[in-house]
Amino acid sequence: MDQKQTPLLDAIESFIKEEPAFFRIPGHRFERGVDRKALELFGDRAYRADLTEAEGLDDLHQPTGPILEAEKLAADLFGSDRCWFLVNGTTCGNQAMILATVGEGEKILVPRNAHKSVMMGLILSGAKPVWINPEYIEDFGISGPVDPLAVEEALEEDPEIKAVFLVSPTYYGICSDLKEIADICHKRQIPLLVDEAHGSHLCFSEDLPKSALQAGADLVAQSTHKTLGSMTQSSMLHIRSSLVDEVKVDKALKLVMSTSPNYLLMGSLDAARHLMAEHGEEHMERTVAMAEVIRKELEELTDVRILHRPDMDPTRIVLSAIDAGITGYEFQKRLYETGRVSTELSDSQNVVCVLTWGNTGEDVRRLIQTIKRVMQRHCAECLQFGSTDVEPVEDVEQLNLPQVAVTPREAYFSETEVVPLAYSIGRVAAESITPYPPGVPILYPGETVTREVYEKAMFCLSHKLEIHGPADKTLNTLRVIMNRELKL
Ligand SMILES: Cc1ncc(COP(=O)(O)O)c(C=O)c1O
Repeated sequence: MDQKQTPLLDAIESFIKEEPAFFRIPGHRFERGVDRKALELFGDRAYRADLTEAEGLDDLHQPTGPILEAEKLAADLFGSDRCWFLVNGTTCGNQAMILATVGEGEKILVPRNAHKSVMMGLILSGAKPVWINPEYIEDFGISGPVDPLAVEEALEEDPEIKAVFLVSPTYYGICSDLKEIADICHKRQIPLLVDEAHGSHLCFSEDLPKSALQAGADLVAQSTHKTLGSMTQSSMLHIRSSLVDEVKVDKALKLVMSTSPNYLLMGSLDAARHLMAEHGEEHMERTVAMAEVIRKELEELTDVRILHRPDMDPTRIVLSAIDAGITGYEFQKRLYETGRVSTELSDSQNVVCVLTWGNTGEDVRRLIQTIKRVMQRHCAECLQFGSTDVEPVEDVEQLNLPQVAVTPREAYFSETEVVPLAYSIGRVAAESITPYPPGVPILYPGETVTREVYEKAMFCLSHKLEIHGPADKTLNTLRVIMNRELKL
């Protein structure tokens, strides 16, 4: 296909040029109905391109024109049979992948470090999760890849599993051996669904792990906005499968996406695809080179560790200064305070930087210099005041596999009561507890609250992590299911 084309951007441009008298939604009437401050900040062009399904602009939910053309170009570039543009992020991509492949009571294999959007998909579908723990990377206290053998064993043990869900790369850039896992799944006629939220860029360089589509996954959701140049909330869902019904995916997406999709988001997907088609390889080459510079420069620091693994995306920079007594949360704070370096994520041990081709040599220099300044200052403070021991760091992600009492959907719709958190131990949770970052639930609705979960929850609170899921964010109380005989 001719990747030089930008069908959706062109359609938006033509419509704007026609300057129609507008009696449609949105009500802001381009720049005329907008608050002045917002207009100065965002620019009038952003408002002019904020359109709906007007003349010539197609319809995301049944595309026949420029949206379909733009999606076809994306499918061609990323290597799928069909691509759907998403305006509600990979969040809705994950939900749709689950809804399209497993129904009420059907089983799906899910790694415990799956993003919370997977829980939403499970609640919507009524499917039963069969949990699998990824490997554990002890030095950094984070989840690693999912072992293909563990997948094989799980499928062997439970022949009722209908689909396998994986997250690869993880937030920390760790990739599973998707080729081997896809083969294991396909031998059993089971589809492999991959949350590739952090990996839209992988297919553009030989120096990066294989993309999920290259490895043979059936359905793949990618947050184009996370590592390529599209706007926040814009993602893509791809299918390349003889095992998944395309119509079911289409139906599922109608359930989870807005009926007023934003044209700025969709146009930005067309643009991101176009840019990567034209310059993807050279951009990724530069990005990998910048990552190498960062890794090399930081190697000389004895008290900052940087994660290196053959199965990792090298453009994800995972740093730990825990050996010097600085937690990830504190390190992230100091990087910003010291050099206005804003990083993506911190956990109890690590800070994660997302490097893309949009970063400059100056950004890289500033990151390296700021890390060095933070460490020098810390060292001087230790000499002056003595070093402070950090409290032992517990990992938030790695929990034992949970005790599942009922499906997430049953729990969600059950009669519930509110109890003090300490009294919830032994009860079945009706809501989740998801510390942010990294957005991985430590408790799902339908699971028995164990002492371990309770202690993790207390740990998250004491580290002031934002808690998503429960109505009571302070976690003084938790909503649990009314006591009754419960069996999965
Ligand atoms: C692993 C993973 N999957 C899915 C999502 C959701 O993606 P989006 O922000 O595109 O909705 C995230 C968001 O951070 C994520 O980290």
